[in-house]
This record gives sequence, structure tokens and C-alpha cells, in this order.
Amino acid sequence: MWLLTLFSAGLFVLPAAITVGGYIGIEYQKVFHGEGRPAPGTNNPLGPGPDGDGRIIETNTWCQKSFGITPFPGRYVFNPNQWGDPDDLGDLCMNITTDSGVSEDTLFAAGFSATWQYPVGPVDEPVHAFPNAKLLLPGDGPVRLAGLDGLRLDVSWSYGLGSYVHADTDSAVLGAAKVNANVCVDMFLAADAADAADPTRARYEVMVWLAAWGDATDPIGLPAGSQANHTINGTRFDLYYGDNALGQTVLTWLADRNTTDFIGDIGPLIHELKHHTGPDASDHLGYVAFGSEALYSFENVTFYVPRLAMDIDSS
Ligand SMILES: *[C@@H]1O[C@H](CO)[C@@H](O)[C@H](O)[C@H]1NC(C)=O
Ligand SMILES: *[C@@H]1O[C@H](CO)[C@@H](O)[C@H](O)[C@H]1NC(C)=O
Ligand SMILES: *[C@@H]1O[C@H](CO)[C@@H](O)[C@H](O)[C@H]1NC(C)=O
Ligand SMILES: *[C@@H]1O[C@H](CO)[C@@H](O)[C@H](O)[C@H]1NC(C)=O
Ligand SMILES: *[C@@H]1O[C@H](CO)[C@@H](O)[C@H](O)[C@H]1NC(C)=O
Repeated sequence: MWLLTLFSAGLFVLPAAITVGGYIGIEYQKVFHGEGRPAPGTNNPLGPGPDGDGRIIETNTWCQKSFGITPFPGRYVFNPNQWGDPDDLGDLCMNITTDSGVSEDTLFAAGFSATWQYPVGPVDEPVHAFPNAKLLLPGDGPVRLAGLDGLRLDVSWSYGLGSYVHADTDSAVLGAAKVNANVCVDMFLAADAADAADPTRARYEVMVWLAAWGDATDPIGLPAGSQANHTINGTRFDLYYGDNALGQTVLTWLADRNTTDFIGDIGPLIHELKHHTGPDASDHLGYVAFGSEALYSFENVTFYVPRLAMDIDSS
């Protein structure tokens, strides 16, 4: 599933989203529990909630390997997803800030960050984790591409060295520190709806990378060169594809520059793939998540997502 970003030349491993069962041992820390006060480091895109009365903003810290949690208002499942660190060689914790004052119908996810550090992994399996927010699919779940009218993405994020959130992202600093990571939307698709929802059984993994740093963080198929390009709201995406170790076809759209703010409909990037060995109208989209594939970093780095909304338009 997820991404297996490979080591430069190309082997890689498992999909990025792979959920490894069996790691429990959660460390749960209630960090902040206040009324009407903004949580430290948060920048709620929705603005202040209803006046006074009982609004609670709180941040909780989650360091478990791989189970998801679904805080209020329930549209997204958050998961540290440290699927590639069974031996505990690194650390990752997510902070998730919930606000009881937002509308239950909001399309926005709770603000979150992930602070992590992992050593260099094996060439054939360089990804250690995929901290992410996964969209709970509406209605009956997986959506047939024939009826997928749009997939709107509205996101702002930052990445920086250290264990605190940064307002801005300095790619040169991350590059110089040899941080290896990306920021992406990860999707899984298959003819069968149930397979599409399971990253290990899906036929296709489709990724949209908004940024990537480090020599080991290459999309599968990079050596063959870009196979197509498509511009959405001013950002050009180049397409690379190839198969991963599970035999899944992984198709990656890579932004032409590190893009920290993006608003647009990425649905056309999925539909376009029928011309490039990818899924077609009869396939189902069963998994959509936004996060960062964490390969390695020699010091703590912090990925911060104060604004995220994803919305599927289907008929
Ligand atoms: C580095 O990040 C880990 C995981 O979030 C955290 O447990 C640890 O305290 C951080 N180290 C420092 C020095 O901040
Ligand atoms: C996450 O929450 C912990 C506990 O409040 C805090 O110490 C840490 O600074 C937070 N990390 C970030 C990146 O904001
Ligand atoms: C984008 O694709 C078009 C063909 O659709 C091609 O002519 C053009 O060279 C490509 N641009 C880049 C920058 O690769
Ligand atoms: C993103 O930043 C890194 C580090 O500076 C750089 O190597 C990489 O080329 C950038 N990516 C794009 C698509 O510009
Ligand atoms: C294009 O992006 C701008 C901001 O970056 C946003 O205001 C606008 O709504 C976006 N347009 C579309 C069609 O999504």
C-alpha cells in the first residue's frame, strides 16, 4: 500500500498504508483540556466556535504503532501507522487537536502533527511509517470510478526540523539535513469494492505527492521518466508508475515543486490513469488518506497539518 518509495533504483516494498496488526501498547497522553482557549500550535481553519459555552479544544498525543482513532466529528481516522518499524528502531507520535465547537458536518479534519525520527531502513523497505488522516468514505463505502465526479483536496501543511511545528517549510534545510520523507495523498483501488478498501489486496495504489525530500524518496518508476503530466489549479503533476513487491501497480503523480498549500479537484488525476495501465471506470476507489511517508531522519522532524479537507463527489 503505501508507498513504497524506493530506494533510488527501484525496488521497493510494501504499500505505504500497510497496517500491521498486533502492535498495541498505546501511549496515550492527555495534553490539554481547556475551555474556549486555543490549543498551542493550532490554527483552526474554521475560526472560533460558538460563543462561550462549553466549547472544548484539546490535544491528545498518540504514539501507538498502527491502530486508528476517530475523534469528533468523526469524518477522518487518524493513524500513526508505523507499519515499517516492527523492531522499534525509531519513534513517532501524533498530536491531534479536536474542537467540540466545530460543526458535525464540517469537511475539515482535526489539526494534527507528527514528530518522528527513524534510522535508514533496508533498501527494499525504506518506509517506516505513514502518519495520516484517512477519509471515511460516504454512503456504502468504495466508489465506482464511473460515478466519481470529483475528489476535492484542500490542504496546508509544513515540515521542519525539531519537535515543534513550523509556520513555513524550508526544503533546503530539510534536504541539507538528509531528511527522507514525502507528503502525499495515498489511494487504493480495485475492481472489487472490498479489495479496494484493503491496501494489501488492492490492485492499484495511486499517490499524489505534494513534496518529497531525500535521495531515497523516489516514486516507483522514476528511472523510466515521466509518462504524462497534468496541471491542476497551477500545480503540474508528473506521472510515474511501476509494480511493487506485492504485484500492485503503483501510479504516482509528483508535483513539480514542493507544494505546501493546495486546493483543487484531484479526480482527473485518477481518471487519467486509464490511459496508463491504471484503473478504469469499472474499478472502485476504497481508500483515501493524506499523510507523510517517513523514511528516515537523523534528528526529530515535525510534519504539521493545520488545515485538511477531502471530499468525494459521486453519483
Ligand atoms: C522526538 O520525537 C519522539 C516521537 O514524537 C518523542 O517521543 C521524543 O520526545 C522527541 N525527542 C525530542 C528530543 O524532542
Ligand atoms: C505534542 O503534544 C505534547 C504534549 O503536550 C507537547 O509536549 C509537544 O510539544 C507537542 N508537539 C508538537 C509538535 O506540537
Ligand atoms: C507534458 O505533457 C505534454 C504532452 O501531453 C508534453 O508535450 C510536455 O512536454 C509535457 N511537459 C513536461 C514538462 O513534461
Ligand atoms: C523539494 O525539496 C527538496 C529539497 O530541497 C528538493 O531536493 C526537491 O527537488 C524538491 N522537490 C521539488 C519537486 O521541487
Ligand atoms: C485554486 O487555488 C486557490 C488558492 O490557492 C483557491 O482559492 C481556488 O479556489 C482554487 N481553485 C479551484 C478551482 O479549486
